Amino acid sequence: MMTTIASKNEAVTLVNISKRFPVNNEEHTQSERIRDGYFYALNDISFTLESGSCTLIAGANGSGKSLLMSIIAGLEAPSSGTVKTAATVGLVFQEPDAQILGETPAEDAAFGARNLGLSKDEVKMRVKDALGDTGLADRADFPARSLSGGEKRRLAVAGVLAMGVEIIIFDEPYANMDYPGVVQVNRLVKKLHADGKTVIILTHELEKCTALADRVIVLCEGKKVFDGDASGALSRDLEAWGIHHPLRNPAQKLEDLLWQ
Ligand SMILES: Nc1ncnc2c1ncn2[C@@H]1O[C@H](COP(=O)(O)OP(=O)(O)OP(=O)(O)O)[C@@H](O)[C@H]1O
Ligand SMILES: [Mg+2]
Repeated sequence: MMTTIASKNEAVTLVNISKRFPVNNEEHTQSERIRDGYFYALNDISFTLESGSCTLIAGANGSGKSLLMSIIAGLEAPSSGTVKTAATVGLVFQEPDAQILGETPAEDAAFGARNLGLSKDEVKMRVKDALGDTGLADRADFPARSLSGGEKRRLAVAGVLAMGVEIIIFDEPYANMDYPGVVQVNRLVKKLHADGKTVIILTHELEKCTALADRVIVLCEGKKVFDGDASGALSRDLEAWGIHHPLRNPAQKLEDLLWQ
């Protein structure tokens, strides 16, 4: 994979990204995603995200969201196409338990930063700031395992903030969240956005975050089928792409989606 530095205002640029896997099970054989013995998990995706933008990448189960995230972060190589990122990328996984390694939030949030070879004092300062920014300052020395799901997700964000990442990707941040949890995630997203970070949210739960997004990209069966602003997305037949339309009543507006 070619990963190069994008120009100043571009945080992420994908050009003709495809990811394919050899077909090895019968279940796939009827799919339109099969070509020449390969299943196209991602098919010719191109877009550029501006620095400091908040983008919602929406799509049904299996549409390719997580794979796209791994490719943007450099964890997976695309089968073809190029990826450019202007800064380091931090990932917040769907399952926060998988991302927590430390005994306490303070120890956990320090892991990544410590691996950057920074001084002890610098790491300590960054961790203090990151836990403050994510609302976990008063839980710094709690047992990390005792944190709620929402707190664990915020701890994952604290860890990437302490590393100094500029691009943060949330994979399904609303999974298993109650109402206060959703509100907390959205407050954090707004803060990161206000601080100039580039934020990418991967979800099929449009009702929870469409109002936060500058831009909405919809994936369906590995292809980009929509790219525009939130109002434009809501004017489309999202159900045809396997996504629940967040506005059931035509009189409702984007501003009515108040999970914030
Ligand atoms: N290593 C792999 N080998 C074969 N197929 C794969 C592999 N990784 C992903 N896929 C397939 O690629 C498609 C996209 O997967 P991906 O996990 O990106 O979807 P998603 O949009 O994140 O779905 P979900 O909402 O369920 O998390 C799926 O059909 C998946 O089965
Ligand atoms: Mg996924």
